[in-house]
Amino acid sequence: MQELLVVKDLRKTFRISKKQQKIDHTKEKTKVAVDRLSFTAYKGEIFGLLGSNGAGKTTTLRMIASLISPDEGDVLVDGFSVRTQAGQVRGRIGFLTSELKLEEFFTPNYLYEFFSELHGVDKKIRAERKAKLFAAFGIEKFAEVKIADLSTGMKQKVSLVVSVVHDPDIIIFDEPTNGLDVLTAKVVTDFLLDLKSQGKTIIVSTHIFSLVEKICDRVGVVINGTMALCDSLENVTKEKDLETVFFELYKEKAGDVA
Ligand SMILES: Nc1ncnc2c1ncn2[C@@H]1O[C@H](COP(=O)(O)OP(=O)(O)OP(=O)(O)O)[C@@H](O)[C@H]1O
Ligand SMILES: [Mg+2]
Repeated sequence: MQELLVVKDLRKTFRISKKQQKIDHTKEKTKVAVDRLSFTAYKGEIFGLLGSNGAGKTTTLRMIASLISPDEGDVLVDGFSVRTQAGQVRGRIGFLTSELKLEEFFTPNYLYEFFSELHGVDKKIRAERKAKLFAAFGIEKFAEVKIADLSTGMKQKVSLVVSVVHDPDIIIFDEPTNGLDVLTAKVVTDFLLDLKSQGKTIIVSTHIFSLVEKICDRVGVVINGTMALCDSLENVTKEKDLETVFFELYKEKAGDVA
């Protein structure tokens, strides 16, 4: 198995603003969001980071995508370090989030060209890839319609497409099905399974057990910024279902649930 993503002892601490201290009823000035977290993802697999609100999933994914830098530790993407080779890392990674807001004034066509230009995609490859992707998601009819006038599902499809214009080897998806209806959620999960069948490596974060059970090959359970368990889904769910495993771990590592 080829190691495509190696996450080594990642650590990230945030300063807490006075305003946030009040909201959280705390006097702590800093928050350790990710605490020496490690895992490896292999080529052609879907790896799920499973964790509750505030566990540190988004912070971890943002460090992997080189959007924020780690305080300690490193991430190797296809051998390239996020610390010293962020350019190479970004060229190999597609970062998607269900919270991505596309500029409402632009059309899918314009955004596709814009992101392709940003990633320096060759003009000829660009056109071929766009035709394929737009056809796969039924975007052709809406190619010249402003984002503001598209349905939520179509907006999500356009977001998916523009995040893979550069045909990345690794696709990182933060909470892929959050806030989506069942039909759009299925489009997203089918897309991820299709990318996997093309040999891509996919990292998803979620708090939804059934999503992990449906699409992930391996799972990492994140509790309080640490990796509490990391193994194949098959091994993790050999004796108990994922939900039971998660709650038992949570009780052990973080105390009672609520
Ligand atoms: N920019 C920031 N400044 C201060 N604190 C932050 C910042 N980003 C995240 N945090 C804190 O770090 C912790 C981990 O946050 P993170 O967003 O990584 O969790 P998450 O697992 O993605 O949670 P969710 O399921 O709610 O998306 C939380 O306590 C959060 O409040
Ligand atoms: Mg998050």
